[in-house]
Amino acid sequence: MSENRKEIDSLDYNTYFIERDALLVSMGKDSKINPMTLKWKTIGELWMLPVITIAVAPSRYSFKLLTGEIQEFTINIPSNKILNTLDICGTLSGRNIDKIKEADLEIISGKKIRVPTLKDCNLNYECKIVHSCKSGQMASHHLFFGEILIAYASKEIIK
Ligand SMILES: Cc1cc2nc3c(=O)[nH]c(=O)nc-3n(C[C@H](O)[C@H](O)[C@H](O)COP(=O)(O)O)c2cc1C
Repeated sequence: MSENRKEIDSLDYNTYFIERDALLVSMGKDSKINPMTLKWKTIGELWMLPVITIAVAPSRYSFKLLTGEIQEFTINIPSNKILNTLDICGTLSGRNIDKIKEADLEIISGKKIRVPTLKDCNLNYECKIVHSCKSGQMASHHLFFGEILIAYASKEIIK
């Protein structure tokens, strides 16, 4: 799939991104990569940067990784081929299980960051966390703002 995708401008496929119900956010490195299913996200320009914002509950293992040593994440919008992984990565926790193995996912090393992207996706983004907001009375999830450093679209969706 690495050869089945092309680099795109960060905000080129915003509409496609917004229309997907859920995606996989991945964080960590080497043997600790953890993909998590995520529904609450936005994409657009902030502070003159292309940014993806994700909402992650503090109870998630993913939250622990996002607030740890590696302030980076990848966003991966699965193709139909691996759509079933949304169930696996949205119900199991990386605390107890290696979801990459469990979901039989393949990874592609990051170009700009240490976190790999996932194969067989229609969109991939490598993001560096530039800001975060704590959950409060109104919001039970923290917000992580990731500057998009590089983005790819699969040949299937490139027009
Ligand atoms: C369709 C779907 C959407 C989800 N969206 C979010 C979300 O936006 N934010 C969040 O924190 N958890 C969300 N979850 C829950 C996490 O994916 C789930 O708790 C996961 O098991 C956490 O994994 P982790 O402990 O390895 O981080 C969603 C789950 C599903 C099935």
